[in-house]
Amino acid sequence: MTAVTAERIAVLISGRGSNAMALVQGCQSGLIQGQVVKVISDQSYASGLQRARSHNIPATCVDATQHADRSSLERALTSSINEAQPTLVVLAGFMRVLSADFLAPYAGRILNIHPSLLPRHRGLNTHARALAAGDAQHGASVHFVTAELDGGPVLSQAQLTVDPSNTASMLSERVLALEHRLLPATVALLSQETVELDHETILINTTALAAPLRLGVDLSDGGTLLSDANCR
Ligand code: GRF
Repeated sequence: MTAVTAERIAVLISGRGSNAMALVQGCQSGLIQGQVVKVISDQSYASGLQRARSHNIPATCVDATQHADRSSLERALTSSINEAQPTLVVLAGFMRVLSADFLAPYAGRILNIHPSLLPRHRGLNTHARALAAGDAQHGASVHFVTAELDGGPVLSQAQLTVDPSNTASMLSERVLALEHRLLPATVALLSQETVELDHETILINTTALAAPLRLGVDLSDGGTLLSDANCR
């Protein structure tokens, strides 16, 4: 078990890549002690590729349509990721379920951002589902990726109060604004503290994390995520 660091970050996307850009900005501002070394998309039309290039970040498409099956695509993704020698892989709007074989070499150093307060609303259409369920709170989670869809241990969360008059698209915009703060703040934490994954348990400075770290919407951007209350 080795601690995950943010020195070299590879980001996998499928679309506009706004969370990838939030990481790039987090690195450029000095919040994150590291750099985004590569952005990889599985979709050639992903606008996030161009956005990354405009920030001089190497960006590549591993085109899903050019691969007959999942294992062929995953081999190509592995090779593209490994070329960049990342210490951390971040799935940010990467719309694909990855196999256990693909994930094994990245165990403990691959994170995903998901637009709900996990374990609520795994999978798609989280905002419409939160509204339909009458949830009072909704938000976003950063979790370690395992082969179980949106099921890996949750490292951090940010939440907001649902306005029932919001449409799913309004709620999505509000949550996305949270994601853009939560993701860089969480990745920054990897340089400030020793974060390890021991099977299903997240250790922060060797102490098991009892509940996800919380980023309150009322905190300023400089607010710290880590609180002793989160550790047992
Ligand atoms: C985000 O809401 C992310 O949580 C979800 O897909 C969206 C991607 O947005 N998985 P972007 O591509 O980062 O702009």
